[in-house]
Parts: sequence; structure tokens; C-alpha cells
Amino acid sequence: MGPLRMEVTLLCCVVVVLGALPFSSDAQLDPSFYRNTCPSVHSIVREVIRNVSKSDPRMLASLIRLHFHDCFVQGCDASILLNNTDTIVSEQEALPNINSIRGLDVVNQIKTAVENACPGVVSCADILTLAAEISSVLAQGPDWKVPLGRKDSLTANRTLANQNLPAPFFNLTLLKAAFAVQGLNTTDLVALSGAHTFGRAQCSTFVNRLYNFSNTGNPDPTLNTTYLQTLRAVCPNGGGGTNLTNFDPTTPDKFDKNYYSNLQVHKGLLQSDQELFSTIGADTIDIVNRFSSNQTLFFESFKAAMIKMGNIGVLTGSQGEIRKQCNFVNGNSAGLATLATKESSEDGLVSSI
Ligand code: HEM
Repeated sequence: MGPLRMEVTLLCCVVVVLGALPFSSDAQLDPSFYRNTCPSVHSIVREVIRNVSKSDPRMLASLIRLHFHDCFVQGCDASILLNNTDTIVSEQEALPNINSIRGLDVVNQIKTAVENACPGVVSCADILTLAAEISSVLAQGPDWKVPLGRKDSLTANRTLANQNLPAPFFNLTLLKAAFAVQGLNTTDLVALSGAHTFGRAQCSTFVNRLYNFSNTGNPDPTLNTTYLQTLRAVCPNGGGGTNLTNFDPTTPDKFDKNYYSNLQVHKGLLQSDQELFSTIGADTIDIVNRFSSNQTLFFESFKAAMIKMGNIGVLTGSQGEIRKQCNFVNGNSAGLATLATKESSEDGLVSSI
């Protein structure tokens, strides 16, 4: 092999190795990433969330969802936190997020507390990931060691948010496809859907099942008839759609396996929930049954799937940045001025709904 050929071959190897890095799962993330630079980060995040959840227990569910909605759109890079500016088209106004996501101001509160202890060290993407694990624990769900070391994005992508986030009326084929795009398999889909064991949903996300399912003029046949009456009382036909109901009618704020026993008695709230158990011949039925009868198995699968989701498209090393303020990329002083105005108004994007 001539010297030129060898150089080209070597260069190719380097390119192949470097090119593969972003997909090499959690190779660059590490649970002890902040051991020397911000050893108390976990307890700082925990204290803020614990305090907020005393008066707003739903916030634990909202924070887990925020992490999911971040990771499914160009990876877990805190892109969901970026507000509109001249150069950013905020994901917060994508259909699955608008008038729906909560917790943006809690994340800012956490960021302020973390910056006070360790300025310029902890990324907003890691804060979102830690907040998800801490929320699970505070709701009596599983704990796990959170791989850390993500950087924050310089961009957001509203179009991708509309494209990648699954809709509540998705059937099983579409759900599986939305997860497969992210490298998540069927077990991950069933385990992560188990997060619908707590939190609330607005009538608009399931009202089509109550009165006129798929233009049949009838309710969804897979919906328990007693539960149907309960849901109709909360969500009148032709109502505004913003009324709220619990995902889990049995233990609304607790992270447990009841999501799966609800599916077994046809009390899944969203179509996308009930699809996992009521799709004839589906491979998900057996997984639902196993999680329903074994909470340890569910928790172990949930932890594994959360870590897998937390690794999607992460920026590490010299990629991205550590944002000073989670709603704006660094150096955007115009954006920061906008924030000051928004914080003083009650319904700005940085407020929880
Ligand atoms: C499988 C596809 C999924 C669909 C179609 C879906 C859809 C939805 C919808 C429509 C809501 C109600 C939003 C509203 O009414 O404003 C919701 C809430 C929620 N979702 Fe999902 N979701 C899915 C997967 C996930 C995953 C993977 C997680 C987390 C791991 C998650 C966590 C939550 C939580 C905790 C809530 C309640 C949030 C709150 O009370 O603020 N969801 N989801």
C-alpha cells in the first residue's frame, strides 16, 4: 500500500470512528460527571422539586414529560426550553406542547439554584434528565443512576417536534414507528408509556373516544362503559376541551404499575394507551400483562428505557454549550431582555400552565 493510500485509509478510519460516536449510546455520559465540579447537583435539584411538589404534586409528572418531549426532538439537548427569538422558532408552540407542557419555570428555578452553587457547569439538558429521575423517586417510583455530561443545543426545531412526538390518537403501528425512529423498541414503548400512571390529561386529547370515535357516531368500543360515563361527565360533548382528568383513576399521583392493570380492565385514558392491550394479536399484550403482575419487572424495564431515552442524540464534549439561562442560547442579550418582560407577565411561555 502506497503512503497516499495508507493516509486515505487512516483518514477513513478516523472519520468512521468519529462519525459513529454520536450513536455509540452512553459512551460519553457518566453518572459521576459532576463529582468534582458540582457534587451537590442532585440534592439541589431534588430540594427545588420537593418544595414545588408539596403544593403541586402534578409537577412530578409534568417534569418527566418535559424530558421525554426534549429527547424525541433532536435529542436530549434542552431544545424544548428555548423561547422564540429572532433566530429560534420555539418547540414550545408545537402542537403536542402548546397549552400543554408544564414546568418550564420550575426548570428555571432549578437552574438558578444550581448556578448559585456551581456557576457555568451544569447543562439544562442534564437538569431535565435529573429532574425526571428525581420526580420518579418523589412519586414513589424507581430510582437509577443518571448518566450525565450532556451539553445544551444552539438550536430548536418546531417542525421536528410536530413530526416526532407521538399523538394520542396513534394506533400501535404508528406508536412503534415513532419509538423506532428514536432507537427505542416495543418493550421501551410499553415501559415508557407506564409514565401515564400519574399526571393529568385534557379532554381534548381523548374526547374523540367518548362520543364519535373514528366517525362512527359511537364511543371507542375498547373503552370500559363505566369509565366512559365517568369521562363523559368530565368532558361534555362540544365542551372546551381543557378540563383535566387523572391518567390513573386508582392512584393519581403515585408512580406504580396500576397503569397496566387499568389497561387490562379497558380503562386506558388515551387511545394510544389502550392500543397496547386492545390491539388484537399484538406483542404488547403480553408485556402489559407481565408489568401488571410484577412491579419490579416494570420498574427495571422503565429504568433501562429512561436511560436509553436519555442517551438519544446527546451533545457532549466540545459540542453545544452550557447555557447560562435555559430559555436562551448564550450571548443572546436581546432574548434575555424578552425574558425579563415575560417573567413579569402571567401568561408568558416561561410560566407553567
Ligand atoms: C407513547 C406515546 C405517548 C403519547 C401519545 C402521549 C401523549 C400524551 C398526552 C396527549 C398527554 C396529555 C397532555 C395534555 O392533556 O395536555 C400526556 C401526558 C403525559 N405524558 Fe405522555 N404520551 C406518550 C408517551 C409518554 C412518555 C414516553 C412519557 C414519559 C416517559 C410520558 C409522560 C407523560 C406524563 C407524565 C403526562 C402527564 C403530564 C402532566 O400531568 O403534566 N408520555 N401524554
